[in-house]
Amino acid sequence: MQPTATAASSGTAAPAGTDRPITEGFGPPPPDEPVLEAVSPWWLSGTPLEAEHQRLMRRMQKPIPWAQSTAHLLTPPERARLAETWRRRSAAEYLAVSTFSVLCIDLVAAGAPADVLSHCVRAQLDEIRHAELAVRMVEIYGGKRIEPVAGMSSLPDDPKQPKLHQAVANTILVSCVSETYATTVLTATRDLTTDPVAHAVLTSIYSDEVMHARLGWSYLRWAIERDPDGVREAAAKMVPRALRGNANVIERERPIGEVTEAVRAHGLMTPAEERQIFSECVREVLVKGFEALGIDCGTAVEDYGDAWVAAA
Ligand SMILES: [Fe+2]
Ligand SMILES: [Fe+2]
Repeated sequence: MQPTATAASSGTAAPAGTDRPITEGFGPPPPDEPVLEAVSPWWLSGTPLEAEHQRLMRRMQKPIPWAQSTAHLLTPPERARLAETWRRRSAAEYLAVSTFSVLCIDLVAAGAPADVLSHCVRAQLDEIRHAELAVRMVEIYGGKRIEPVAGMSSLPDDPKQPKLHQAVANTILVSCVSETYATTVLTATRDLTTDPVAHAVLTSIYSDEVMHARLGWSYLRWAIERDPDGVREAAAKMVPRALRGNANVIERERPIGEVTEAVRAHGLMTPAEERQIFSECVREVLVKGFEALGIDCGTAVEDYGDAWVAAA
């Protein structure tokens, strides 16, 4: 578990009235709290940056019906399972900000067009908002304000290869594979989610991840037109690494607690279901997409076939 940090204990200045203690009561948000805001004021810097941040977030935010959460109907173990899941998600979303930052450097170094860059920069902003949504969900389920842990993504870096190939390889890793898988798993998760808040949050994140995936596939096509053989070769080398990286995340241990039907209704699948979705994504989406662009995917379909799914 990450340490719990309140606005006060972390040294983050919170606007007056937002540093009230968290109780173990899990009712609707306090009446002084705006119900359609994703922003958690206690997590902000306390500087004049806040006003512009609020404007940016409001502009991009689809309304979330925070007051309609049914979290209070869950048992404490169910809430704990969901809180820990969202805590991990908040850390992943926060880290994704730096992932797109590093990718942006690769893209600029390779002379990527402006619309590719603007989408990459926009993705950083989206990931900040996803982190905020996840932080808010941790609070809803766990009753605690837990900041995402600090960190920095590192992407593969090979100074010997041409900048275009480096940018393509990391775009495949970050966007084509990770973000495309994110859209498929979010679609499936959303389908079983009946809690209005969880459904709205997952929908909001999903609509951004679609754009994050589109960024990669569009750039890949553009790059292939400039250097067909070299880009296809660099892509083929990265595909197995990128798939393994995603599989590692799916295979890792999960928070303690059963995935009950009630928990599923708040947007959580079993590890076995996630393996099934990844396997289908590899077979039906990723390999088909890469092969349509002339990129060899080796044994990807077999590597993540029935035997891998059954090993859950
Ligand atoms: Fe995200
Ligand atoms: Fe994303």
